[in-house]
Amino acid sequence: MPNCLIDPIDSAVPVETIREEAYDGWLAGQSDAVRRWLTACGFKGQGGQVALLPGEQGPRGAIYVIGGNEDRGGLWSWSGLWDGLKSGVYRIVTELSAADAFDAAMGFALAAYSFDRYRKVENTEQDDADTLLLVWPEGCDQAAVRGAYGATVLVRDLINTPASDLGPTELSAAAKELADASGASFREIVGVDLIREDFPAVYAVGRGAEESRAPRLLEFTWGRADAPTVTLVGKGVTFDTGGLDIKSTTGMKLMKKDMGGAAHALGLASMIMAAKLDVRLRVIIAAVENSVSGTAMRPLDVIGTRKGLSVEIGNTDAEGRVILADALALASEDRPDIVFDFATLTGAARVALGTELPALFCNDDTLAAEILDAGTQTADPLWRLPLHGPYKKQTKSKIADLRNDTDSSYGGAIMAALFLEHFVGEGVSWAHVDLMGWNVSAQSGKPEGGEAMSMRALFEVLARRYGS
Ligand code: BES
Ligand code: MN
Ligand code: ZN
Repeated sequence: MPNCLIDPIDSAVPVETIREEAYDGWLAGQSDAVRRWLTACGFKGQGGQVALLPGEQGPRGAIYVIGGNEDRGGLWSWSGLWDGLKSGVYRIVTELSAADAFDAAMGFALAAYSFDRYRKVENTEQDDADTLLLVWPEGCDQAAVRGAYGATVLVRDLINTPASDLGPTELSAAAKELADASGASFREIVGVDLIREDFPAVYAVGRGAEESRAPRLLEFTWGRADAPTVTLVGKGVTFDTGGLDIKSTTGMKLMKKDMGGAAHALGLASMIMAAKLDVRLRVIIAAVENSVSGTAMRPLDVIGTRKGLSVEIGNTDAEGRVILADALALASEDRPDIVFDFATLTGAARVALGTELPALFCNDDTLAAEILDAGTQTADPLWRLPLHGPYKKQTKSKIADLRNDTDSSYGGAIMAALFLEHFVGEGVSWAHVDLMGWNVSAQSGKPEGGEAMSMRALFEVLARRYGS
């Protein structure tokens, strides 16, 4: 993994990579034959374009022009190499910096991804995935690519898997598999045990689902016991019908992705463990299905939480913040150095920032600045929204301590984040990421469907702080 990146072989076709700005200069230095060939092909040297150069026995070389997209030569600029080539084995001969070599390998590999669990791969365009190969670029940190690629594929696969095959039970199995593979210690609390072990909010949201889809709290820990503690929390709603405040047809359609936060927590954990960062890692996932049934929680029910705060359920569709309340309370109990939580929490975050830009909420300005910078560096950007104190009163209920909805729909992502803040321990550095986790249409390197968003950025923050 990734299968499309291979060790050097002699027959690999050399690929020269040229920045868009440098193309005219490059062309001027070529032979008449090459210039005439490229002109005849109608090749303009635009960013993202590939041209093959003819030889006696097939292509003797290829050129790839980098740039021209909003990524300006970053990671996704390299995905066009996969898009533009059809089959064969290629090797990049241009000397690349370590950062470019990483981007080239990752951009190529992520473009080659397809989700084919449910179809015969034969007879599809995706055949390319098996017949189009790139030699690992020289100077590339292969372990880093494997870590980030494997994590991204994990996130994409988990999100793309329909709820029929990925309920709380299967999400738990995926978490356990990852934990076992890294020697982490795993535990889970299932069904009514959640009441005994004091996770009433997780139970309340998940209790409407059928028994084989009982709610769960999953947890694993890894790493040196006295290392700095980093805790990752994920919203694992394996399907969100909205509960009794049932969603509309279009609103419900994509809701198999509502465990995207949990997938991100697992993906980031896999990167941390693969890179052996010097941290004490703890992963906490609340895994539930938000169902419509006779045992489902009702509008205006009041439920308890692990923190002791009562919550009035103004809307059963605002379920993510409810399960995260217990997960964040648990996360805070051992006073970790950092807590990151990931959640497909609000439609409002998408109204504010669109589908591609996750909203960051953070109670620590230093950490927030590090995250935003890392996002830019890794072509995995986030945008910060405020934990605006004066809005906090809107999360208060008339009959309970808190309510899970608000009277107006303005600022919905902020309201959800402020609700969560009640459950984060005093003095804990906390970052909350409200993300889409889904490419609504295909772009270079980003097929339509599940997507990791903010994961590489947050890994970069941790690698800078705790890497060797
Ligand atoms: N999972 C949804 C949020 C969501 C919807 C994320 C679409 C991404 C795309 C969440 O559980 C939800 O339903 N939120 C409601 C909250 C509201 C009822 C206060 C929302 O955003 O509409
Ligand atoms: Mn919902
Ligand atoms: Zn949801």
